[in-house]
Amino acid sequence: MRIVFLGPPGAGKGTQAVRLAKHLGIVHLSTGDMLRQAAAAETPVGLQSQTYLAAGKLVPDAVMLDLVRERLVKDDCARGYLLDGFPRTLGQAQALDEMLGQLGTRLSAVVELQLDVEEIIRRLAARGREDDRPEVIRERLEQYSRQTAPLSDYYRRQGLLHPVDGGGTPDDVFRRIRALVEPLARQ
Ligand code: AP5
Ligand code: MG
Repeated sequence: MRIVFLGPPGAGKGTQAVRLAKHLGIVHLSTGDMLRQAAAAETPVGLQSQTYLAAGKLVPDAVMLDLVRERLVKDDCARGYLLDGFPRTLGQAQALDEMLGQLGTRLSAVVELQLDVEEIIRRLAARGREDDRPEVIRERLEQYSRQTAPLSDYYRRQGLLHPVDGGGTPDDVFRRIRALVEPLARQ
């Protein structure tokens, strides 16, 4: 399966993606994790992206597309993957469709984790990652509503969008996601 996780910062994409990818035996690709690893390793992409991450701004599409394109053609992606945090702009979504078309495949499903802003702020404040400072959280939420939220419509029109309530415990959310994805996996 090829799955995309959409949802605002702190909605639980990473938490659920790790579990679902393991459950389905597919690769978990978090572009946020890839960028943080690149920054720690001081690669050119990492150094270039650092200021965007720290400010809660989106890294330019061209950088992200190179990173993802390179990753999706690796052997371990042949069995499927779960994209967590990509695509995040309409340009990225269109480029992904093009990439998949060239590989002769398409997405299986887009899972949108929904969570209200008060709970998002509570969860992120409790975690305290470098970009979880209040002013950076505000900017990440702003970027999400401006640049990423339009992707819901984009995927709804393709019949791929599945909204999921991200509230409750991680087990509650995982049960909802499984109930949604398992029938699709059998198709
Ligand atoms: P990224 O790493 O993707 O961050 P994000 O989208 O802001 O989301 P988070 O990872 O903070 O939240 P999440 O939804 O994964 O939730 P999590 O499971 O961690 O991106 C970071 C930056 O990289 C961006 O700002 C941008 O600069 C750049 N970037 C990345 N991709 C890009 C792209 N495609 N284009 C351009 N730029 C890009 O949960 C959050 C917290 O809540 C955790 O502490 C968790 O333990 C807790 N939690 C989770 N579920 C529950 C629950 N059910 N109950 C209670 N607590 C919970
Ligand atoms: Mg994450």
